Amino acid sequence: MKNTPLNYETVTNAIEGMGLGDFSQATIRDLQSLAKQLEEKTGQQVIHLEMGVPGLKPSDIAIEAEKKALAEGCATTYPPNGGIPRIKQAASRFAKAFIGVDIDPLGCIPTTGSMQGTFATFTAWRHAMPEKDTVLFIHPGFPVQTAQCDVIGLKHIGLDIHGYRGEALIKKLDEILSQNNICGIVYSNPNNPSWVCFKDEELKGIAELVNKYDCIVLEDLAYFAMDFRRDLSHPFEEPYQATIAHYTDNYILAVSGSKAFSYAGQRIGVACISNKLYHRVYPSLEKNFGVGEFGNFFCNRLMYTLSSGTTHSVQHAMAALMEAACDGKYNFLNDVREYGRRAKFMKDVLLSNGFYLVYDNDLGAPLADGFYFTVQYPGMTDLQLTRELMYYGITVFPLDTMGSNEQGVRICTSFFSKELEPLFKERIELFKQNH
Ligand SMILES: Cc1ncc(COP(=O)(O)O)c(C=O)c1O
Repeated sequence: MKNTPLNYETVTNAIEGMGLGDFSQATIRDLQSLAKQLEEKTGQQVIHLEMGVPGLKPSDIAIEAEKKALAEGCATTYPPNGGIPRIKQAASRFAKAFIGVDIDPLGCIPTTGSMQGTFATFTAWRHAMPEKDTVLFIHPGFPVQTAQCDVIGLKHIGLDIHGYRGEALIKKLDEILSQNNICGIVYSNPNNPSWVCFKDEELKGIAELVNKYDCIVLEDLAYFAMDFRRDLSHPFEEPYQATIAHYTDNYILAVSGSKAFSYAGQRIGVACISNKLYHRVYPSLEKNFGVGEFGNFFCNRLMYTLSSGTTHSVQHAMAALMEAACDGKYNFLNDVREYGRRAKFMKDVLLSNGFYLVYDNDLGAPLADGFYFTVQYPGMTDLQLTRELMYYGITVFPLDTMGSNEQGVRICTSFFSKELEPLFKERIELFKQNH
């Protein structure tokens, strides 16, 4: 019997009791209920590094704006399908202030979390380009998006960036796109889970291919401006959030309120469609839905049928946050920089105890410290490491569910408070001693 922080037998029995075996079929929910059971049975705290939920308090700016909007009666009326004028204006200004791009308010469409925006995007691609039936995911990535494609009935393929950065990435993408079956490309930047951030030369290369093969990019900015190596927090000043929007018109940017603004519970994002794409007419949309214009279809066919717009009050909250950020009255990155501090601490502990980073650099430069990072321990598979860390009271998320070809686990910093630092260090040191 091994000397582990959580009683070895108790953990083994709980895993067997839940029928989790080698963890190959375990979902994130299974890991969470296992952790809960272990906490109850052992009385010991489990350190939760598996979730992707923001762990910080949102700004009062949002809460006050939402309260005011409700008090003024917004709950009684349906919002427009394409969003209320206030958020459309604010998002357009925000795009200029923090991304450095011009997107008309018309193209800035609030959605119920960026999740709804991605669902609408995939659906739009499917109907606009029936001759191109496949979505290309630059992996690793957020598994719910591939599930969305499955639900919609869109094929998808993935390319793991582990072996493909810089020129190699562009060359490989060119090879894939030359099949002419790809309607759109999806990636997150910074990337969930690896925290890789594409460099401008890569974005430019992807944009050239998107123009060449006439497909659309969904640039998922769920972790907006959270590349903490550069201070992206000052409105209308460089540096800006890196984006493909500088190099092509075929884009949709998905900005989320969940992480950068800690507003996940209220479910708000904004899909920002380029001016040119918004007005582009797709014959198949025209023929089948009577609305050929891409942006118009997105608002008045998709947002309309999905939910008839986005909750009225939360549009005011997100607008208020964006307005305050643009006016320089609210530095939204000040709060979330805490994630970077936590990542640095955890990486230091893990790397000095035999772990290594799986996705470990940005074209030779060190990765930023942020919301997530990926690690592995030599000689183990990702499932073995996930299972083994349970005995040490640490829950993580294996990478194989995220389209990665590498062995490793994702660490999320959001629930790692300062008080947990000594316990984490002690447990990781013991892990090292035992392995
Ligand atoms: C890469 C990525 N995209 C999108 C989302 C969903 O964001 P939202 O909460 O705005 O729906 C997440 C949430 O974790 C994410 O990690």
